[in-house]
Amino acid sequence: MMFDKMFKMAIKAHKNAYVPYSGFKVGVCLRSENDNLYIGSNVENAAYPQSQCAEASAIGSLISSGEKKIKEILVIGGGKDLCTPCGGCRQRLNEFSSQDTIIYLCNSDGLLKTLKFTELLPLSFGPENL
Ligand code: THU
Repeated sequence: MMFDKMFKMAIKAHKNAYVPYSGFKVGVCLRSENDNLYIGSNVENAAYPQSQCAEASAIGSLISSGEKKIKEILVIGGGKDLCTPCGGCRQRLNEFSSQDTIIYLCNSDGLLKTLKFTELLPLSFGPENL
């Protein structure tokens, strides 16, 4: 099953997150329309605003590999509770998502909640609005 593979890959990204300032590790795995998987970790910086969210890292990997469409997004947050993508990352993900993109919100023990991306970012502004 694809979820299990995505979860395993996101756990690896979660472990490798560079978070000396917040201590809050995030790992993401994206499934593209071609069923390829792309992971990303959050990467913090001594100049705090230069830190990068895990979603942004994963999107960088997707784009570098020549893909653009996201079918599924899996996020593993740092704590026990839900880790929903920040506002900026909802917008970043929206650029490459579609009406039926699914998002799995997890902690390191497993799945907490499944949502349609449109539930996470209703009335979004995207490329089709230009
Ligand atoms: N963070 C992410 O990487 N993704 C999210 O969905 C929420 C927050 C990061 C940013 C920062 O490195 C740390 O988590 C605490 O905010």
